[in-house]
Amino acid sequence: MVARAITYLCAMIANDGEKFKKVVSHAKEYGYIYPSSEIYDGLSAVYDYGPYGSLLKNNIKEYWWKAMVQMHENIVGIDAAILMHPTTWKASGHVDAFNDPLIDNKDSKKRYRADVLIEDFMAKLDDKIHKEVDKARKRFGGSFDEAMFISTNNRVLELTDRKKQIGDRLAKAMTDGNMEELRQIIVDCEIADPESGSRNWTEVRQFNLMFSTKLGSVADAADTIYLRPETAQGIFVNFLNVQKTTRQKVPFGIAQIGKAFRNEIVARQFIFRMREFEQMEMQYFVRPGEEDNWYSYWKEHRMKWHKSLGTDDSMLKFKDHENLAHYAKAAVDIEFQFPFGFKELEGIHSRTDYDLSRHQEFSGKKLQFFDPELNQSYVPFVVETSIGCDRMFLAMLCNAYDEEQVQDDTRTVLKLPPALAPVKVAVLPLVKKDGLPEKALEIFHQLRFSHQCQYDEKDSIGKRYRRQDAIGTPYCITVDHQSLEDGTVTIRERDTMQQERVSVEEVQQVVNERVQMNLLLKKLVS
Ligand code: GAP
Repeated sequence: MVARAITYLCAMIANDGEKFKKVVSHAKEYGYIYPSSEIYDGLSAVYDYGPYGSLLKNNIKEYWWKAMVQMHENIVGIDAAILMHPTTWKASGHVDAFNDPLIDNKDSKKRYRADVLIEDFMAKLDDKIHKEVDKARKRFGGSFDEAMFISTNNRVLELTDRKKQIGDRLAKAMTDGNMEELRQIIVDCEIADPESGSRNWTEVRQFNLMFSTKLGSVADAADTIYLRPETAQGIFVNFLNVQKTTRQKVPFGIAQIGKAFRNEIVARQFIFRMREFEQMEMQYFVRPGEEDNWYSYWKEHRMKWHKSLGTDDSMLKFKDHENLAHYAKAAVDIEFQFPFGFKELEGIHSRTDYDLSRHQEFSGKKLQFFDPELNQSYVPFVVETSIGCDRMFLAMLCNAYDEEQVQDDTRTVLKLPPALAPVKVAVLPLVKKDGLPEKALEIFHQLRFSHQCQYDEKDSIGKRYRRQDAIGTPYCITVDHQSLEDGTVTIRERDTMQQERVSVEEVQQVVNERVQMNLLLKKLVS
């Protein structure tokens, strides 16, 4: 009944830009995310996680860790230091090649990544193609043959060809490090500053994204060290330590969750692109020649992980990299449809033996595996899965945020997967008298051994339900007068708002069954 009374307020979240603004302000208002050092007006692209945010983030990390380490007997975890020997970053190629091409607009004084300006332009060509297809679909109705239309329509062919030409030029310019050509593409495509419309551009310059600092008190160049821009290198330099101490055989993986730092030129879109962020990375060491099979395996497995969280198929897609990083043989992104478009959430990279070979060369230490089955030693190839924890958090928040009309009221609800929700259950006495608070507190004290719970007796029951909806609590247990008579309570389910009566003895078990992470983990092996 109640579920039927809900009318989705599509119009209220009519446009995605509007929705994104609402998600951002909700995150602040309900203790998920605050701007860093806000009393000093904040620090650009740096954010702090509040009480509910830190719980949600920890749950995301726990789910990733369990899915990777606990569920695979041949994957082990480490926690390497953020600061590493500076030669690490020479060997990895980051000192020479971890650059973004940067361009300034002379009129607006705004700074952009040249490759992103070009990619955005290509995305506009894509939009034009989709519009042509949509128009034709409307015109031809049921008899419309999309594949035929795309391969024969002159306008679509022209746009597709243009996009391909620009893509090829971009890929070559990026591979060659040709900054003049990047600028020329921007000029040829007549790309304007998205904010001011001006086409008055500077030259394109390379900008290294690593933050540097000094080790010790003597400030000479030899002491320069870097904040790691990816966690992966902590895994590579520990390859032998881990392999020997855990007696793993190839194929095996090393997983890690930790902070990474990048001096991003264009840091926008809230926590999507931050200067300090957290990565969840796994390096899978395989026999040379077997990397393509493992690349396919990890692509599918990681997509399954995302879908296990209930994210609709239409919100996720693969996108092959057109410009490969200096270490990659193949690379694909898992993209999520953020309110500002499909964007990278996770990368799966076939990194060849690049990293281990380079560390072997720079350190003079052998980083090889003796394969008893092949009776030979080799430098293993690596397939990497790399996901930004903060981006995953943002994807979860955007996916969960909803506004619903319930009778005459609007409720804002975060429909987070119960296993990830910061607070699993709230215990509420219907009124603040007649012995109901005492009974409710008894249940609360019992449940908090197993779950993050809240007890709340302030305001009307309706208001308390709304507060829990807004932070995404999947279950509310209400103690009413009947509870004192027959020892039952109601459990209200967040998404349907339906209530059922269960006995106090059963409450613990009912909640356990519905919020456990095992429910998600089981989907990965089904
Ligand atoms: N070890 C490979 C690597 O670092 P990447 O594609 O540069 O690859 C992996 O980064 C993931 O890290 C991205 O898919 C994204 O989720 C996250 N990420 C990268 N830069 C980020 C930033 N500035 N802010 C937040 N997340 C970021």
